[in-house]
Amino acid sequence: MSRQKFIAGNWKMFTNAASAEQLAAAVVKGVAKVDRVAVAVCPPFPYLERVAQVVKGAAVALGAQNLYPEKEGAFTGEVSPTMLVDVGCKHVIVGHSERRHKLAESNAFINKKVHAALAAGLHVILCVGETLAEREANATDRLLDEQTTQGLAEITAEMLARVVLAYEPVWAIGTGRNATPEQAQQAHAFLRRRVGELCGAAAAEKLQIQYGGSVKPDNAASLLHQPDVDGALVGGASLKADDFLAIVRAGIG
Ligand code: PGA
Repeated sequence: MSRQKFIAGNWKMFTNAASAEQLAAAVVKGVAKVDRVAVAVCPPFPYLERVAQVVKGAAVALGAQNLYPEKEGAFTGEVSPTMLVDVGCKHVIVGHSERRHKLAESNAFINKKVHAALAAGLHVILCVGETLAEREANATDRLLDEQTTQGLAEITAEMLARVVLAYEPVWAIGTGRNATPEQAQQAHAFLRRRVGELCGAAAAEKLQIQYGGSVKPDNAASLLHQPDVDGALVGGASLKADDFLAIVRAGIG
């Protein structure tokens, strides 16, 4: 089946008020000429609202990089899914490896975030991926299985329609070392089979699985041409509008 490609920019803890607006405006301008690929940008929390104004009415959706899995409450410093909806977010990234590894987020906590986000009406980009040590120990499949099974616990086929999976090998994130198209395809096919067992084959067939990890204009096409690679979650290259737009265009071809 043909799934629409989905390219999302994860700006991480970069940009400032002015550069976030400029970057969003440049993406909006470039994407106006592209309609066969879904596009989203995920700025830091403080700039969500101003970027929301820039992308309003354009074919660029707004996403957040994280949330706390409660509607409201005494959770100093945290941001709720309803707040994200309130400022115009459609998507939220959950389970990014930087949060798993630097902030010790567990699969159980990530699963709570998935449920809270979906309950608030958001679409979820759930990140999974192995470390280099895990890959070298031939533990990639086991790890992906664990993160997917636990991250998607109690997720029905119907709920899965608002979930995107992002396969991001940790050793490829921000390192300039990307998975080969074959490695990506192998992991994506494995993930789709596993999700099929969890949520049913029909839902898994429709699931978009993005690849993430040093996606650049020069490697995007070969990754995006793989049959189970349905898009990209782009970090570093999403901070340069020209590079990000070149990756979006690679998603059309
Ligand atoms: P990168 O980041 O493109 O800079 O490797 C990807 C990500 O962390 O989502």
